[in-house]
Amino acid sequence: MRYNTSVSDSLSDQLLDWYDVHAREMPWRVSPADRQAGIAPDPYRVWMSEVMLQQTTVATVRDYFRRFTDRWPAISDLAAAEDADVMGEWAGLGYYARARNLLKCARAVVSDHDGLFPADHAALLKLPGIGPYTAAAIASIAFDQPFAVLDGNVERVMARLHNIHTPLPDAKPALMEKAQMLTPRVRPGDYAQAVMDLGATICTPRSPACGICPWREPCVARAEGTAPELPKKTPKKPKPVRHGTVFIGRRADGAWLLETRPDKGLLGGMLGWPGSDWVDSALPLPEVPPPCAGDWQVRAGEVRHTFTHFHLILHVLKADLPADAAPDRGRFVLPGDFRPSDLPTVMRKALDLSE
Ligand code: ADE
Repeated sequence: MRYNTSVSDSLSDQLLDWYDVHAREMPWRVSPADRQAGIAPDPYRVWMSEVMLQQTTVATVRDYFRRFTDRWPAISDLAAAEDADVMGEWAGLGYYARARNLLKCARAVVSDHDGLFPADHAALLKLPGIGPYTAAAIASIAFDQPFAVLDGNVERVMARLHNIHTPLPDAKPALMEKAQMLTPRVRPGDYAQAVMDLGATICTPRSPACGICPWREPCVARAEGTAPELPKKTPKKPKPVRHGTVFIGRRADGAWLLETRPDKGLLGGMLGWPGSDWVDSALPLPEVPPPCAGDWQVRAGEVRHTFTHFHLILHVLKADLPADAAPDRGRFVLPGDFRPSDLPTVMRKALDLSE
């Protein structure tokens, strides 16, 4: 299922010529020149970067990626890591199930595949946390196989190139088909990264730089003047609001009263402040006993944080606890053992409000 081969080959050639000059430098990326000289990317680094890039921007991922790969340079190092250390390094990236799956996947690759990522798309899909997008990205970028990689940037580029007005997410199958048809047999890994770079740097959401785009001639949306309004999107339903309470307790010796959240559920396996369940804002604030006897004071203000499916409002209580405090839940963590950066962002915001 490819276009007239000469048309799609000339499109991919034009883009690859552009990429040879304009590829962005990234710590996990092998430059097009090195790649053509026979240097292959490390599948471990490609996998980690792709999992992180599903969370946030390239700029943020650079720092997290460097910290992870400095601390765990090979997949065997990550597989042997303590869960709490990996969750702590991931803190701030959000969607913590991804971090738990990252570790599970590293362990599965080490135990079931001799520490080497399989090159086969179907085998990749069987690994924890690897869905169709990540499997295609690894097969394409790390193993140079012609799988289309459809992220938000590529969706936008395809919608404009072909002037597709069907709103997302309904348009996804059509966009995927276009992306797959354009993917060349030659240099598919560089091509996948080239479309993503094009979307990130030229075919940007609001003011695309059509004048310098390598695809300005074939782009139908440019010809029709519709590029800035594509892709169309079905409006999202507003997110519900939930609310809850957290308790920030500090003992006389400076130790913090913290708990590790249960593995299942939101922020699973992350460090946090003891608190209530989070309930719909139409309901009364859940009553929850403090985790430890003390003079709990309500902090003025509240923490607001947005998760994938809801907004959260947290009320914060704070107490100075005596040296002999005996908590009913959580454990005291001495200041030397506590890195605020190990907290997920919402818990970090609560700490900031308490200070
Ligand atoms: N976004 C997600 N993966 C990417 C990659 N490999 N290159 C550029 N942008 C990306």
